[in-house]
Amino acid sequence: MKPVAESPVPALVLDQVPPWVRALVAQVTALAIVVLIAKSSVAFGGAGVGPIPLCAAQALLAASIGWALRLAPWWAVIQLGFAPTVVLATAAHLPPGLFLVAFLVLAGFYWSTYRTQVPLYPSSPAVWEAVGRLLPRQQPIRFVDVGSGMGGLVLNLAATRADSIVLGVELAPLPWLASVLRVRWSRSAARFRRIDYRRLNLGDYDVVFAFLSPAAMPALWRKAQQEMMPGSLFLSLVFPVPDAPPDIAVDVPGLRGGTLRGWRMRSTAEG
Ligand SMILES: C[S@@+](CC[C@H](N)C(=O)[O-])C[C@H]1O[C@@H](n2cnc3c(N)ncnc32)[C@H](O)[C@@H]1O
Repeated sequence: MKPVAESPVPALVLDQVPPWVRALVAQVTALAIVVLIAKSSVAFGGAGVGPIPLCAAQALLAASIGWALRLAPWWAVIQLGFAPTVVLATAAHLPPGLFLVAFLVLAGFYWSTYRTQVPLYPSSPAVWEAVGRLLPRQQPIRFVDVGSGMGGLVLNLAATRADSIVLGVELAPLPWLASVLRVRWSRSAARFRRIDYRRLNLGDYDVVFAFLSPAAMPALWRKAQQEMMPGSLFLSLVFPVPDAPPDIAVDVPGLRGGTLRGWRMRSTAEG
């Protein structure tokens, strides 16, 4: 089979630059090239290029530059769609306030996704049940969901494990606010804090659950190994820990399921 073409730009340099910066560079460079070509065509007495070919050229160029800058393949969808969306939205003469509202709502939900590379994507009741089945039953536990999103898992576990402390920590303001309101409405014992999980001491918890992204796993696993107590349990939905085979792997049914993996933390002496 023919191997997929590799970007010519060295990986070591580019992988230090956050993806959103590379995406922005691709968009701005493609726009500059297209504007330059359009202006030159008029300056040299040409008929000028229409908005649709210009828009298509910008989109294709941005996607190609994004590829050369080693962006993940799914970024191509955003790179291709950005200029056409701007042109269509401008042509529709939408009220400017609508863009501000859309921006604020999206920022409230996706707050630091550009930096953490972890989007909001709630887990399902099938996942909550699978997590509940893996929790130690003999004694009360301290549980934390790092990146608790809309709070569904934490609220469910707080209801089914009334003996235990169940905490969700979330960076994005709107999902955190929704979780806090859900606690008020349901009179739940669940707790939510709006902080970066990197500021938590994971050693304070018997079970740490994560449903994040491949980008977040290596650093979170290092933190878990440094801080979590021997015998405690680290759970990850969907995303494996590179080079660390799990002690537990449960297939969760349903579209939003995937595999729930668990690692029993060992003392450094155990390896
Ligand atoms: C895929 S959602 C998981 C939602 C939730 N755990 C569930 O099971 O429904 C990941 C969440 O992690 C949050 N997140 C990402 N990085 C974070 C960080 N460093 N600290 C706290 N929350 C974070 C994101 O804002 C997002 O809401």
